Amino acid sequence: MSSSSRFIAKQATIPNLVIGIATAGGLYTAYSYIRSATSSEPRKTFGNSIAGSLTLQQTEEINHNTKRLRFSFPNARDETGLTVVSSVLTFSWPKGSLAPAIRPYTPVSNLSKPGFIDLMVKKYPGGKVSTHLHSLQPGDSLFFAFGIKAYSWIPNKHDHITLIAGGAGITPIYQLIQGILDNPEDRTKMTLVFGVNTERDILLRKEFENYGSKFPDRFKVVYTVSEPEEGSPFRKGHVTKELLKEVLPARTDKVFVCGPPGLETALTGKGRGDSGILGELGYKKDQIFKF
Ligand SMILES: Cc1cc2nc3c(=O)[nH]c(=O)nc-3n(C[C@H](O)[C@H](O)[C@H](O)COP(=O)(O)OP(=O)(O)OC[C@H]3O[C@@H](n4cnc5c(N)ncnc54)[C@H](O)[C@@H]3O)c2cc1C
Ligand SMILES: *[C@@H]1O[C@H](CO)[C@@H](O)[C@H](O)[C@H]1NC(C)=O
Repeated sequence: MSSSSRFIAKQATIPNLVIGIATAGGLYTAYSYIRSATSSEPRKTFGNSIAGSLTLQQTEEINHNTKRLRFSFPNARDETGLTVVSSVLTFSWPKGSLAPAIRPYTPVSNLSKPGFIDLMVKKYPGGKVSTHLHSLQPGDSLFFAFGIKAYSWIPNKHDHITLIAGGAGITPIYQLIQGILDNPEDRTKMTLVFGVNTERDILLRKEFENYGSKFPDRFKVVYTVSEPEEGSPFRKGHVTKELLKEVLPARTDKVFVCGPPGLETALTGKGRGDSGILGELGYKKDQIFKF
């Protein structure tokens, strides 16, 4: 299976592997809780042990289908233990299901901040877990297994990187942007191309505007809206070769891609010699990373 459908579909391949770990994890969680309760050291929540059940502290309605959920750690001094770029594996028991549903989500909060993590969850029509997560109320809990490292970022390895996101695929890209721009030692420059269906699907717009004004020489964002409203100030259409040619600098060292299957296929091809838009623009396979 191409990694293109990973964002929505790859969880189907994860469950068998992890169900066993969940059981063992329960025991280990009990053990780590007792240990953390008796120790004054802040715990690394997604360190070496199973994270365990976390309480939903607050929710924020972002748009018609997306919520930001803040889960607090048992001790406000506990750290995330996560490094850029990581996701976290959740287990839940939506109504009517016997086996747990296992889905990864990518924290969008500052990973260095102790006490909590924020998930940004898009609700899919008929989506089992996203619907369940949207139904949670403050005080409810969610079981977290462990963190999964998606990409190990090395500061200053590249002069300029390109980030291409579609819809809810923005979350790992945003974590990477934060990891770079919040690190005073990192000088990497970047261009973000964010494709969405409608204007209200532009997630994290305020955050990107803040970065844009704080780092005008290092961070540039281009939105493209495929179904814009009349008079929309944004570019219209999908992420195309023409758009990338126009907005990307002559040299970019690495391209990070995360989005729905259609976008990822258009950009990187279907395989068998088809290397998609990025291939046509001269990018080699090892210059492209798909989340
Ligand atoms: C590493 C990683 C990080 C992720 N981070 C985030 C994140 O930060 N935020 C976020 O919102 N999501 C994220 N996801 C996606 C998330 O894990 C879930 O897949 C998503 O929430 C949908 O789960 P669900 O149970 O609601 O939907 P499901 O019940 O699994 O179904 C999802 C929807 O897609 C349809 N569908 C089912 N199978 C397919 C398929 N093969 N192809 C296309 N459509 C299909 C269904 O009809 C339904 O409408 C991430 C995924 C990965 C792999
Ligand atoms: C992230 O959290 C750390 C630890 O609290 C803090 O030092 C840093 O300034 C935060 N970064 C941003 C951008 O808020």
